[in-house]
Amino acid sequence: MAPARLIRGRVRVPGDKSVSHRYAILAALAAGRSSIAGFAPGADCRATLACLAQLGVEIAVKPRAEADQGPEVEVLGRGVRGLQPPAGCLDAQNSGTTLRLLAGVLAAHRFESILTGDASLRRRPMCRVVAPLEQMGARITSDEGRAPLTIAGADLHGISHVPEVPSAQVKSAVLLAGLQAAGTTSVAEPARTRDHTEIALAAFGAEVQVSGTTVSIAGGQRLRGRRLRVPGDISSAAFWAAAAAALPGSVVELVDVGLNPTRTAFLDVLRRAGATVAIELGPADAGEPWGQVQVSHGELRPVTVGADEVPALIDELPVLAALATHGGEIRVTGASELRVKESDRITALVAGLRALGADAEELPDGFHVRATRRLSGGTADAAGDHRLAMAFAIAALGAANPSIIAGARSVEISYPQFFDVLRSVAR
Ligand code: S3P
Repeated sequence: MAPARLIRGRVRVPGDKSVSHRYAILAALAAGRSSIAGFAPGADCRATLACLAQLGVEIAVKPRAEADQGPEVEVLGRGVRGLQPPAGCLDAQNSGTTLRLLAGVLAAHRFESILTGDASLRRRPMCRVVAPLEQMGARITSDEGRAPLTIAGADLHGISHVPEVPSAQVKSAVLLAGLQAAGTTSVAEPARTRDHTEIALAAFGAEVQVSGTTVSIAGGQRLRGRRLRVPGDISSAAFWAAAAAALPGSVVELVDVGLNPTRTAFLDVLRRAGATVAIELGPADAGEPWGQVQVSHGELRPVTVGADEVPALIDELPVLAALATHGGEIRVTGASELRVKESDRITALVAGLRALGADAEELPDGFHVRATRRLSGGTADAAGDHRLAMAFAIAALGAANPSIIAGARSVEISYPQFFDVLRSVAR
């Protein structure tokens, strides 16, 4: 790919991946029909739909005329605990959210199911969901704490769970099991994580109590199908926001993006780093805030990000590292969770940025990137990780020479049109 002088344009990013997974799963557990507009077009959310279809859920995917608006998905729900035994293994492919959230759902279904995934997902830690779901009454066998998980679902009872690491996927798995359990289930998180599950449960008619970072749900509640619209994915928008922040003369307008405050911390970091960020909040849809965001370049300054901020920008850390190759500097600590994402996002990020010529260093729980020199360009290996592929592309925009991103096809996971959009906004 070629470097660029600046980026300019108005971008409608695909539907939010985290929100799409949740709407599809809750629609499957609801009574009646749901229609979900602007569903995330990537492979991760398709994996969730395919698993739900194998569990007996009727799903129709209707492409939209405007290619950038994502498909509309219609789901005929089977009711809480109403899924059917699958004929074969359920393949979550590359998607941790699919596997962990479905584990919570299936723990309460009285049949055996096997959840697996690709080589990357089978390396990721699953004890964090297996332990609480077993405590609730399910029997789960794993490959030393990793997928495949064989789940023997049961009549569950509520628990009070205190996860060791802040994780929205763990919280969501336990809450989804709790919805289907006897008594009340609560999750007291060590730090606030994205709250899409809580918001979506309420949107489908369940009562959820939130007090600080503790969320509780009473079992035995019913969900009602409904119409929903998925906001644009702020984590996909982050690539254009960072590119605009990085390249002098750039302005980008991000249209109809989700602005849930548990997801927007990277916008604060962009401001601290010197960019101008204007946010116009619109009306919420199903409890999820939406709006328009404009980002333009400013002279880049050094920033630090610590453990307190990490959960609200965990997926944006690779592109913030890419930003720091253009100017300024970033030091991130308290982010060892990055090591158990789709790749080891500390080692693979630093290796890829260095291959492009960056001054980047690994820390045990983060990284340090300094713009001490202009990138030369080179070949960066995305290690099969969609967010690394896109982060390397944003870094490579500032290089002296063209670059190659190996494994760039992984953008298919969350943002299939990424390189088309890049060509349309780069000058
Ligand atoms: C997600 C939660 C985060 C995030 C992932 C999506 C979700 O993971 O990194 O991309 O949809 O709940 P953890 O919950 O494991 O931190």
